[in-house]
Amino acid sequence: MAVTSKKSRLPVYIVIGLFVVFSVAFVVILALTTESEMTADPIDSNELTADTYMTEVSALLEGADAANGAILVEKYGCIACHRGETVAKIAPPFVGAAERAATRRPPLTAAAYIYESIVNPTAYIVPEFNAVMPLDYANQLSERDLGDVLAYLLTPDAD
Ligand code: HEC
Repeated sequence: MAVTSKKSRLPVYIVIGLFVVFSVAFVVILALTTESEMTADPIDSNELTADTYMTEVSALLEGADAANGAILVEKYGCIACHRGETVAKIAPPFVGAAERAATRRPPLTAAAYIYESIVNPTAYIVPEFNAVMPLDYANQLSERDLGDVLAYLLTPDAD
């Protein structure tokens, strides 16, 4: 009798098992979709103007502390890819970043371009480099930190 009742429960376990599998899959898909919605913010190159991002950028730069930005690029690990001769093949070095930023994606200003590079790294991929920059800095950095990093990278002594 006991054996029979165990057997009859088997389909129940299968149904529960399938339910769990589908629930997990649902949550994973939901998480992935939400993340891509948060990072994907593509602006068509033809729609860029000298004002693009400047409202956000001006607000971020107000009272920003470039010296603290120098500390933050170490704290957030940016320099692992962006500092020094040996890594020059992983990512463009921060040395001279502001000067190059002004020419990368006209009509974007240097500040707007650097801002975009951090919050939406795949909006523009620097030629000859791979899109390996982490995508979640927009969520990781507070507005204050983002402003400080931006201010630092706009100074001629960024490295
Ligand atoms: C895993 C390596 C890696 C890390 C970590 C990283 N980046 Fe990058 N970054 C890249 C690569 C590669 C590029 C060039 C390719 C591209 O445009 O995505 C790039 C491009 C940039 C650019 C545009 C540079 C130019 O010359 O056009 C800026 C600005 C930038 N990153 C800032 C940052 C900041 C700030 C951090 C930290 C908060 C950071 N990156 C962390 C790899 C990295």
